[in-house]
Amino acid sequence: MAPEISTITVLGAGTMGRGIAHVAAVAGYHAHLFDTQEGALQKADATIRRNLAKGVELKKLAPEAAEAALANLHLHTNLSEAVEGAGLVIEAVPEDMVLKIETFHAVSIHAPHDALFASNTSALSITEMAAASGRPERFAGMHFFNPVHVMKLIELVRGLQTAPETLDALTRLGRRMGKEVVLVNEAPGFVTTRINALIGNEAFRMLQEGVASAEDIDKALKLGLNHPMGPFEMIDLVGLDVRLSILEFLHRTLGEAFRPNPILVQHVRAGRLGRKTGRGIYTYDEQGGRVGKG
Ligand SMILES: NC(=O)c1ccc[n+]([C@@H]2O[C@H](COP(=O)([O-])OP(=O)(O)OC[C@H]3O[C@@H](n4cnc5c(N)ncnc54)[C@H](O)[C@@H]3O)[C@@H](O)[C@H]2O)c1
Repeated sequence: MAPEISTITVLGAGTMGRGIAHVAAVAGYHAHLFDTQEGALQKADATIRRNLAKGVELKKLAPEAAEAALANLHLHTNLSEAVEGAGLVIEAVPEDMVLKIETFHAVSIHAPHDALFASNTSALSITEMAAASGRPERFAGMHFFNPVHVMKLIELVRGLQTAPETLDALTRLGRRMGKEVVLVNEAPGFVTTRINALIGNEAFRMLQEGVASAEDIDKALKLGLNHPMGPFEMIDLVGLDVRLSILEFLHRTLGEAFRPNPILVQHVRAGRLGRKTGRGIYTYDEQGGRVGKG
């Protein structure tokens, strides 16, 4: 069995990276968070502190555990310092294969030779990144969900050359972070991204056909099928541009069922990208409250 991992380095301090660093630090790992942008690290630090304080307020976390987590957290803009002691490096940089491959090339120069590598990609090929990393047996996908400190699942993705020991070590680590782990053989979009993209696209098709309004489609899935969010609420949260690029990838790799609906394409062209631009399928005020239809 491989030695237990004590140090995790997370690359990219955006929405996902800071959440992964948060859960790693709470689980007792030395958590090193790296970003090329100092501002992203400062924002990540503030968000992690706020979420830990909220956990204490809600009595989900003891005050001492929050203090210990903050002591475990280290922020870096220097890559070699960030990865020098890593047992595991988790990549959470933007969803762009060229950028991810470049990042793993750089990391493989500085990280210990026996460190495991994982990518938090939502859909891209683990096998392709693994091959480029120079350590394909010690590489897997670890797909976390937003917000990471709340969502229970990790999709652990096996690439063509991922070794069973790597999957065992990452399963133990995911459980220590308090997550449930499902094992998925590499396929575009894994399980969750693929199903979610299909539901969202079908919801747009129903809108196009005039089957029901966006509000009523959302209400139907929430109250009739027990989905915690409607498909349009979810798309506004994820970002319509992000969803479009996922659908374009799934359309290329899995076929016609994933052809992006024209209404989605049109909204992206208009700059209605969801909550982040104040307008997507719905419209939002400055505080992020929903004020009406898009
Ligand atoms: N946002 C989600 O809901 C979600 C859910 C699951 C998976 N993902 C996946 O997680 C990954 C990250 O997504 P995100 O939403 O956190 O993105 P984000 O845009 O919020 O954050 C990306 C961060 O990476 C930094 N960055 C850019 N280039 C870098 C480099 N070369 N080295 C280090 N840092 C770099 C940016 O400064 C930014 O802070 C993507 O692959 C995405 O598909 C996202």
